Amino acid sequence: MGKRENDKEDRGKNQSSVKKNKKKKKELPATVSVALPGSIIDNAQSLEMATLLAGQIARAVTIFRIDEVIVFDSKTSSDDAAGEENSDDKYDGAPFLIKILRYLETPQYLRRSLYSMHSSLRFVGLLPPLDAPHHLRKHEWGPFREGLTLKEKPLNFAGTLVDVGLSKNVTVEEILEPGVRVTVAMGENRSQGTDVPKKIVTPNTPQKEMGSYWGYKVRYASNLSSVFNMCPYEEGYDHVIGTSEHGDIINSSEVVIPTFWHLLIAFGGLGGLEECIEEDNDLKGKTVSEIFHSYLNTCPQQGSRTIRTEEAVLISLQYFQEPIKRALN
Ligand SMILES: C[S@@+](CC[C@H](N)C(=O)[O-])C[C@H]1O[C@@H](n2cnc3c(N)ncnc32)[C@H](O)[C@@H]1O
Repeated sequence: MGKRENDKEDRGKNQSSVKKNKKKKKELPATVSVALPGSIIDNAQSLEMATLLAGQIARAVTIFRIDEVIVFDSKTSSDDAAGEENSDDKYDGAPFLIKILRYLETPQYLRRSLYSMHSSLRFVGLLPPLDAPHHLRKHEWGPFREGLTLKEKPLNFAGTLVDVGLSKNVTVEEILEPGVRVTVAMGENRSQGTDVPKKIVTPNTPQKEMGSYWGYKVRYASNLSSVFNMCPYEEGYDHVIGTSEHGDIINSSEVVIPTFWHLLIAFGGLGGLEECIEEDNDLKGKTVSEIFHSYLNTCPQQGSRTIRTEEAVLISLQYFQEPIKRALN
């Protein structure tokens, strides 16, 4: 919790230096992250059902332009590498969910190079595509394309060849290792073709320059506290919301989210976020209000006695749309 606590203190300072914030915001678009437990996969009855569930999460976070998805475990110690390992033939909670989320976020033309066909990916073909703006087809032109650096060297330039999913590879000036995923600026218009050397840009450039959603990053956290402590943003999450049927009931039009750089919305599993807190050695005994800036019920009129996490993600992200828009205006 250290980082988030500091951020809480920083918020006062931040608010008093609006000018500085505005400048920083222009350089760095605000981000929205979603945290959810990998255990939701363990309740699926088959690999096929687990794949469909992961696909639902991927579609929901794409529809609502989420920048980062954190899949957390309920480990007592912070071992943030463990979730990266994936068993080939099982649908194993967090590692499986992470794998499917990353696979689906990758443009189709790069998947074959980046993923060997593990049996855990056996049913991904059943899933509806994300159809995100960076998933361009071969015949489509776009000012930016996701690419993968290649081993082969360009013929006439020093630089690196990049597969950007067109019939011809492009060259970039930078010398890079093979197998690195990069975002390539393709030039002002289609007539520049593939022969002119291109530039590598940061992955958030398409969003900064065109307002275009450019996919999500996926991160593993060994438990709920690691979601906060291992935040990849230097400033940490400056506003954190927990969701629960036990949360406060506030009409979405009245929810106030303060101006933020990095918003985090957390979801629980079968036992809810309160159980995740109890399972976490660093958080045990804390109340939800010590952990979240707000704890909200986003579907107070529910007819079913339980809303599943994958349903809650869709419902809640719709509920937060307008409050987020107001916070960023
Ligand atoms: C099966 S529910 C867990 C039920 C649990 N009693 C709870 O705290 O909501 C799984 C997750 O879905 C989300 N959820 C379920 N109902 C919700 C509601 N009415 N409002 C907001 N989130 C909800 C929460 O993130 C919850 O942790």
